[in-house]
Amino acid sequence: MSVSVKDVAAAASVSVGTVSNVLNRPEKVTRATVEKVQAVIEELGFVRNDAARQLRAGRSRSIGLIVLDSANPFFAEVARGAEERAAREGMAVLLGNSDQTPVRESAYLDLFREQRVSGVLLTPTDLQSTAVRHLADSGIPLVLVDDELLDGAAPSVTVDDIEGGMLAVAHLLERGRRRIAYVGGPLAIRQVADRLEGARRALSAFPDATLEVIELDALTVLHGRDAGESIARRDVDDRPDAVFCANDLLAVGLLQGAAILGEVRVPEDLAIIGYDDIDFAQAAVVPLSSVRQPARAIGATAVELLLEALASPRAAARHVRFQPELVVRASTGR
Ligand code: RIB
Repeated sequence: MSVSVKDVAAAASVSVGTVSNVLNRPEKVTRATVEKVQAVIEELGFVRNDAARQLRAGRSRSIGLIVLDSANPFFAEVARGAEERAAREGMAVLLGNSDQTPVRESAYLDLFREQRVSGVLLTPTDLQSTAVRHLADSGIPLVLVDDELLDGAAPSVTVDDIEGGMLAVAHLLERGRRRIAYVGGPLAIRQVADRLEGARRALSAFPDATLEVIELDALTVLHGRDAGESIARRDVDDRPDAVFCANDLLAVGLLQGAAILGEVRVPEDLAIIGYDDIDFAQAAVVPLSSVRQPARAIGATAVELLLEALASPRAAARHVRFQPELVVRASTGR
């Protein structure tokens, strides 16, 4: 039998309203009463029924965050930024991992809708899904993270990935590299496609340079390592002299794969640059150049946009676009 607020009130010899204040507005209660009620709560093992409180308050203290890959440190940093900003409002972030799978994304969207979260922060796999529409129909605000709706209907926080791709390849070209490979995939992921577009735009000013696209099934360290080993096994004249990886996980793996046979020196034979500037980039055996995204600021800004949407539901959606930053390290040295 679960312990109710009434049980706590009776055991502490206070009113139900006092127990509610201790739980929700402790500043309205004397310190002695707060401590007495909290002692009874602990003794009886009372667990608040958040669903009932949410219904009364009309708003949950929870925010749903759905990322493409929770194993990617970039999204872990986005989540940290969101959590830190949410905590300042007394709110919590519930993390879901879509694993780049629309079915899992829809399942989390439906779960957060049923849980009546205050809002959902989403790095989408499929913006056309019915689950996204159901969320909108339920009146729960949606903020897009690292992506945006074509009609701009939902608030969004993004980074200019075309600019980021241009920064990466312009740097390789400035370092004198001319046989460049782009390693990333699937190209159906908007971020991957935009970075390639940026690479192409940078290359357009260098007619003597070539761009080879190596499309992979996923953006993981293992996929990067396989790509690096495959490049190292090519004849010397058939190898690129530089690789732009769609994210740092690929670059960390490619660095290891290229070194496995002991024939390819980085950066002498092969310059490597990644994207995100996660901690592993700087810590790599040959510190990796990268294109930095302000991941924690992205997460915090997403929560800010949600709080604005909650405060002014009819206001026009706001869009924040951060600029990427080139970070040069040994892996693209001279
Ligand atoms: O999810 C793929 C990539 O897109 C991540 O590595 C990060 O760069 C995001 O923007």
